[in-house]
Amino acid sequence: MTTANLVLDRPATSAPVSRFPILPRPDLRWTPEVEAETAHLYEKVKAVMPPVEWPFHAPYVKAINDLKKVRNAVILAHNYQTPEIYNCVADVVGDSLQLAKLAASSTADVIVQGGVHFMAETSKILSPNKTVLIPDSKAGCSLAESITAADVRALRAAYPGVPVVAYVNTSAEVKAEVDICCTSSNALKVVESLGSDRVIFLPDQYLAQNVQAQTKVQIIAWKGACEVHERFTAEEILRYRADDPSIKIIAHPECPREVVEVSDFSGSTAAMIDFVRNEKPAKVLLVTECSMADNIATETMGVTEFVRPCNLCPHMKMITLPKILDSLLTMRDEVVIDPVLAARARASVQRMIDLG
Ligand code: 13P
Ligand code: SF4
Repeated sequence: MTTANLVLDRPATSAPVSRFPILPRPDLRWTPEVEAETAHLYEKVKAVMPPVEWPFHAPYVKAINDLKKVRNAVILAHNYQTPEIYNCVADVVGDSLQLAKLAASSTADVIVQGGVHFMAETSKILSPNKTVLIPDSKAGCSLAESITAADVRALRAAYPGVPVVAYVNTSAEVKAEVDICCTSSNALKVVESLGSDRVIFLPDQYLAQNVQAQTKVQIIAWKGACEVHERFTAEEILRYRADDPSIKIIAHPECPREVVEVSDFSGSTAAMIDFVRNEKPAKVLLVTECSMADNIATETMGVTEFVRPCNLCPHMKMITLPKILDSLLTMRDEVVIDPVLAARARASVQRMIDLG
């Protein structure tokens, strides 16, 4: 067939053929085939999911896993995603830093972000040639929403020459204005890498206080807070310790300083999971979003008992199996960032990654 034939074969009125056509909805009935194909995945969540619930999730799990192959897609899921996402459809799970690095190295054509909007933006910033989808574009973050690019420019004007560090929980516009990004797992290292005796640190006032407690660098903090972690109080944590003095208490550094002070360990969500895996405490209190405990409950069953003061992140919980399926069928919502802005934001994220 010649090129001329090819041109003539295409109807003159056809719309441009999308690289990703919308696909028909798959059969979502609970059948013996679905049960057999997903039985090994139910094993991973059975500690936290009664058998009666699985028939509602399993058809979605199967459909999503089938569609990932069709789309050459990967699902990057944050540690706060629900157990059926974290354990049954995610290709990669982790904290913000791990997900950012994996987004950059993935060879998939499509990334579906199981997480909130700033995480999907970070994936797009690091993978400009991939299609990045967020199953619900309204899944925000109280930290990311607490500061704008104009606020950063005003801070720079107020503190000329002082380097600016942005937590990754910020918009692409904010990342584009700063010198370097950080996550909860490398914030201290990033602050100390700048060789400055003063650093502007935004937007989380509590992470800033928790870093300040470990460094001589003077930190100028923004006033943002995570709506999930700011609710924990030292009094509440100490009551758990009074009930059982042997309990291990581990807190995310987005918690207020006084909460971290009365805890045995503080670290990123991945560091918290590693602590439980490595230390195998008989009883542990995870001072963070409550899906974390559910996600590792099966692997720690019979070893570690979790005590969970349940604070849910409403934004993380906007991502569900039905929305992930819709995302893969319709290729929405796609994360789009102006390439010039993305390049400036990438410089800040890449500088963090290059620190190792
Ligand atoms: P991690 O980077 O520790 O996973 O934290 C991200 C987050 O949003 C915690 O609230
Ligand atoms: Fe943002 Fe807090 Fe939710 Fe993390 S837990 S995404 S910091 S609102």
